[in-house]
Amino acid sequence: MKELSVNHLLGIKYINKNDIDLIFETADQFKEVINRPIKKVPSLQHITIANIFFEDSTRTKLSFELAQKRLSADVMSFSVAQSSVKKGETLIDTVNNILSMKVDMVVMRHKNPGAAHFLSQNVKASIVNAGDGAHEHPTQALLDSYSIREKLGEVGGKKVVIVGDVLHSRVALSNIFALQMQGAEVMVCGPKTLIPRYITELGVKYEPNLRKALEWCDVANMLRVQNERLDVNYFPSTREYSQQYGVDKALLDSLNKEIVIMHPGPINRGVEITSDVADSSQSVILNQVENGVAVRMAVIYLLAQKIK
Ligand code: NCD
Repeated sequence: MKELSVNHLLGIKYINKNDIDLIFETADQFKEVINRPIKKVPSLQHITIANIFFEDSTRTKLSFELAQKRLSADVMSFSVAQSSVKKGETLIDTVNNILSMKVDMVVMRHKNPGAAHFLSQNVKASIVNAGDGAHEHPTQALLDSYSIREKLGEVGGKKVVIVGDVLHSRVALSNIFALQMQGAEVMVCGPKTLIPRYITELGVKYEPNLRKALEWCDVANMLRVQNERLDVNYFPSTREYSQQYGVDKALLDSLNKEIVIMHPGPINRGVEITSDVADSSQSVILNQVENGVAVRMAVIYLLAQKIK
């Protein structure tokens, strides 16, 4: 049986192309399962998973929980607001306390880059990174590539532009790694203040002009402006941002081809994209959400196979 090269999913940079292919083949099967009348398989009845979210999340947490339940795993979830972390407990102590209840896998979101990696070296459980600060968000990048593959047949050879707040985005970095690993070309586009200075050293192009970027690409992944992470003013006003970097229907229709529009959610409607773009036939935003469950089922299932 084929298996993953890793025991944890800490970031795309720790996995390889074979891992991505295996995750996608497995997700294809689970996608079929979640479209059946009985959307569940008994595969992980023996596995207990804790979802620990030290940062706000709606869709990622729900998506992971649903994926786990559809695999019949036992699931417990908690957010920092209800936990003893607020009382001063360390991360390792918090997680070890949970693990002493015989938990096999931990899905964690944390504001610190490297938190999932740190945990994987210090506790005995399989760790899934559900977002660590502005570093990586591997399952998001996997579901994004999976959605491109579904819509366009393959990821290799495609041109993908990531638009917006690349500086504060874990989605951007994981996407860059995943897309390049699969042979796609990647461009970033946005105000210079929101693009990391050394981004081109990762082998991606930078284009400050949105129209040019859209004319170049097959797929545009529109990032949310991470208002909660903006410590200083990176652009004059939201209005000016959306004038220069927002996609509306008129712009989309004026391009010489049909591009695919993606967004990791949550959308600031009217800022990165207008409602008619989000809801248009070129948008795969809701497909991304559906695929998120299948891809997370695949990741969890494959990691569970590696628990001895
Ligand atoms: C992303 C995240 O949290 O990094 N959203 C998500 O996972 N649903 C992107 C974002 O918050 O803009």
